[in-house]
Amino acid sequence: MSKTIIAPSVLSADFSRLGEEIEAVVSAGADWIHLDVMDGHYVPNITFGPPIIKAVRNRTDKIFDCHLMIEPCDPFLAAFADAGCDIITVHAEATRHLDRSLQAIRDLGKKAGVSLNPSTPESVLDYVLDRVDLILLMTVNPGFGGQTFIPAVVDKVARIKSMIGDRPIDIEIDGGVTPQTAPLVAAAGANVLVAGSAVFKGGTQEAYRANIEAIRAASDGAMR
Ligand code: DX5
Ligand code: ZN
Repeated sequence: MSKTIIAPSVLSADFSRLGEEIEAVVSAGADWIHLDVMDGHYVPNITFGPPIIKAVRNRTDKIFDCHLMIEPCDPFLAAFADAGCDIITVHAEATRHLDRSLQAIRDLGKKAGVSLNPSTPESVLDYVLDRVDLILLMTVNPGFGGQTFIPAVVDKVARIKSMIGDRPIDIEIDGGVTPQTAPLVAAAGANVLVAGSAVFKGGTQEAYRANIEAIRAASDGAMR
């Protein structure tokens, strides 16, 4: 059994066939579905919101891993919970009161995630580690798929892995994940890998399967 959780980002899917694309990556071996929500304000791009997520929720039982790149986030948390997200991740840089946002997500009965941009130091996590289920480390600047992995984040992954100790917190990597970069972050302590362009390239279920298996094999072999 694989140790790595693979979470394809539907940002790179064909949005005109979003439901079918989700079914295809699930059939191809995806563990979670990663949903990138962008507001054109916190990040320089706009994607989709709760109605679209709700519309595709019945396509799979897999975990819906929702990455909110919106500011503010607090007024919209309930809508994403109602839409069927299982994990709701907010950016530490996009909420004025991180502890409050994380508590609000858990109060909605969902798993709470916090995301850090490449240049954000891990010290922002110091006093919230008992309130988070997942830490999402951006290895690109948020807003677009298909960008190049930023290697400086690998050391941050290792530092956060030691900070969390034996707490049951997932470390998720997002941005520029490929079979080449996956082993770097897996060796540093990451256990969840988001991949958009590296999963959806090829455009068929067979291609998705090969793409997921290549990332999974590279990561599993390096995981510590
Ligand atoms: C970027 C998003 C990512 C993106 C990753 O802001 O958070 O999830 O889809 O795309 P790739 O894997 O192509 O870098
Ligand atoms: Zn993402």
